[in-house]
Amino acid sequence: MMSLGNALPYAEPVRRYNRTAMALHWIVAALILVNIVNGLQAASADDAHIRPLIDMHKSIGLTVLGLVLLRILWRIGHAPPPLPRSYPRVEKLAAHGAHYALYAVMLALPLSGYLHDSAWNAAAAHPLVLFGVLPFPRMPIIKSFDPVTKEHLHALFGAAHVYIGYALYALVGLHLLGVAKHHAVDHESEISRMLPGAEPRA
Ligand code: HEM
Repeated sequence: MMSLGNALPYAEPVRRYNRTAMALHWIVAALILVNIVNGLQAASADDAHIRPLIDMHKSIGLTVLGLVLLRILWRIGHAPPPLPRSYPRVEKLAAHGAHYALYAVMLALPLSGYLHDSAWNAAAAHPLVLFGVLPFPRMPIIKSFDPVTKEHLHALFGAAHVYIGYALYALVGLHLLGVAKHHAVDHESEISRMLPGAEPRA
């Protein structure tokens, strides 16, 4: 069978995710990419430019948090299309493990950013307003702590945010390597599972 206009013959018909899963997958992937670039820019920006960058970073990050929660709820109610039978058991386990780890990191990354921001001593002077229109509360319990505790938590969650970011880079790298390996070596069009196409959906 052919797919994506690619001349490779694939071993089995492609079983696809449905449109909701595909939309959530690609919207979240694009927003995460934008926020990585934006977060790295903010980390090295001078005082004159940091505010709009970081406000946009927080708005996109909290949107990602909401969409990932939606995606997890959707996933609980919908089993994904099975992986091709030809994959060895160990590879199927590795793929599932990487997917669960990605969900965990996609939640932990925006959450650590939100906690980092909630513990910011200057937070009261810079209200959190999503995309400049929707006021969003800081974590009430953290807001009530004294300034020294907040400073400590701010540094702790900030470091967590950076290290969870590194975990995300590693997992996305593995995810892409897996897709490339299945495509080029196993001749299974893994990417077609997440792209709209003509074949029947699982
Ligand atoms: C998709 C979700 C997110 C991604 C991919 C992401 C990614 C990043 C990255 C790559 C950095 C730079 C880290 C470094 O210096 O190496 C960063 C910094 C930061 N992020 Fe996030 N982040 C996300 C969500 C959030 C959220 C929800 C908040 C707060 C509500 C937030 C607040 C911050 C802050 C305050 C910084 C520090 C910027 C500075 O150095 O001044 N992030 N983020």
